[in-house]
Amino acid sequence: MAAKWLKNAVFYEIYPQSFLDTNGDGIGDMEGIIRKLDYIKDLGCNALWINPCFDSPFKDAGYDVRDYKKVAERYGTNDDLIRLFDEAHKRKMHVLLDLVPGHTSEEHEWFQMSQKAEPNEYSDRYIWTSFCFEGCPGLPYIGGESERSATYILNFFKCQPALNYGFLNPDKPWQTGINDPAAIATREAMKDVMRFWLDRGCDGFRVDMAASLVKFDDEKKSGTSAIWKNIREMLDKDYPEAAMVSEWSDPKLALRAGYDMDFYLSHPGNAYPTLMQDYGRDPNAPDNSYFKKDSDHDITRFLPEYLDWYEDTKDIGYISMITCNHDTIRASLHLDASELKLAYAFIFTMPGVPFLYYGDEIGMRYQFLPTKEGGYFRTGSRTPMQWDNSKNLGFSTADADRLYLPVDPADDAPTVAGQESDPESLLNTVRLILKLRHKEKDLQSDGPFEALHAVKGEPFVYRRGEIIIAINPGTEPAVVPVDIAGKTPLFTIGTADFDGKAFHIGPQSFVALK
Ligand code: NOJ
Repeated sequence: MAAKWLKNAVFYEIYPQSFLDTNGDGIGDMEGIIRKLDYIKDLGCNALWINPCFDSPFKDAGYDVRDYKKVAERYGTNDDLIRLFDEAHKRKMHVLLDLVPGHTSEEHEWFQMSQKAEPNEYSDRYIWTSFCFEGCPGLPYIGGESERSATYILNFFKCQPALNYGFLNPDKPWQTGINDPAAIATREAMKDVMRFWLDRGCDGFRVDMAASLVKFDDEKKSGTSAIWKNIREMLDKDYPEAAMVSEWSDPKLALRAGYDMDFYLSHPGNAYPTLMQDYGRDPNAPDNSYFKKDSDHDITRFLPEYLDWYEDTKDIGYISMITCNHDTIRASLHLDASELKLAYAFIFTMPGVPFLYYGDEIGMRYQFLPTKEGGYFRTGSRTPMQWDNSKNLGFSTADADRLYLPVDPADDAPTVAGQESDPESLLNTVRLILKLRHKEKDLQSDGPFEALHAVKGEPFVYRRGEIIIAINPGTEPAVVPVDIAGKTPLFTIGTADFDGKAFHIGPQSFVALK
């Protein structure tokens, strides 16, 4: 069963490069996160996920780890990170680090040893074929770069060789089984990394490419799941309050493998993009997202998949919805502030543990930029946080040309300071919704959920215990097609009222009734 503190957790995802630079070098740092803990708490988020902050050549923004046990100098020191854990805990907040178990940087010491011609204890830490001209059908591999006569398998970019967790049914001399000593050594090495940070105050991990450990024939993921179950046993025994969230997007598998939460990601082909980003990978393609005011408002494109996953997993863990993340185009590219308000109100009143991506609370805009650190289209969602109207929008005192990425150049770039005093701002709306979530137990992670009315083009109505919620994302007023006798509004975006006969919900409106 999931860690207890997740019942009321709302996460804030921080891309550390871009959050707050306190030493004027143009890039964010640990101290910057510490200084903004009160802001995050006040927003209604009581937990953090920090993207990889470890030593790295940064060919994939830190997802190419060179040393799992060392904070990258550009962010500070291990002591700074430990201070962040302490400061967070003082405020009853929790911190998840990003664990990258499927691959390392090619500059990691393990890989440097593994590529040597002379066999050594790291020779099988990665997946190598047995000859310099032998590849691995179906998996990307690199030859010609190592001292040993072999090619190695990649897990993602060229800089990210795959760690060896074994094969389910090895059928080549170079493939180890999942219970062979080399595969077990990799798993134990990853457990050692986890222990290192858990012992220093970290509260758990967001796990990168969690489904990627066993390469094949692991279609049903029994091999990969067995590894996670083993790791869960360690957590249950020694760190019972530690939490893990998987980048898997298959909660039926991930939660059974021992995860507390699994992200519902906007992978093309699954139902999540139909809510906010229904345009695949092309930001210029037409968008029929549910929350766009001029779409066909068909919640039934989302609901069957969600309900199937939710019903199957609600007793074992949580589905985590995100406003966006560092891999996704910010929803504000297509949705305006009123559409975003409804989308966030939905995400934050659904079951499971929600994640807010830094800057989404003010509707920070996606920027069209050249790639940085392997970001490609993702770079535009990774720009500096916009705090106020001072130099570099309050992100850094460095000269603009030294910034990690440029800040939004628009005259009307949204900022935290600019939205503070406007009660209708996106920022203050997020605060109110999260306040409501924290106040009403039924709205929290494990509160009940039932869809009451889900018909294309009509308001979507759902129940969370004693609370009934109606959303009308369209431009026409509508009657709430559900009996809500005896209930009164707790929280409204737009308009909603009872005229003595029926309950009416205005255009682009949201109402929670109790
Ligand atoms: C998923 C991460 O979210 C992404 O940013 C990264 O590039 C890949 N995994 C590889 O680690």
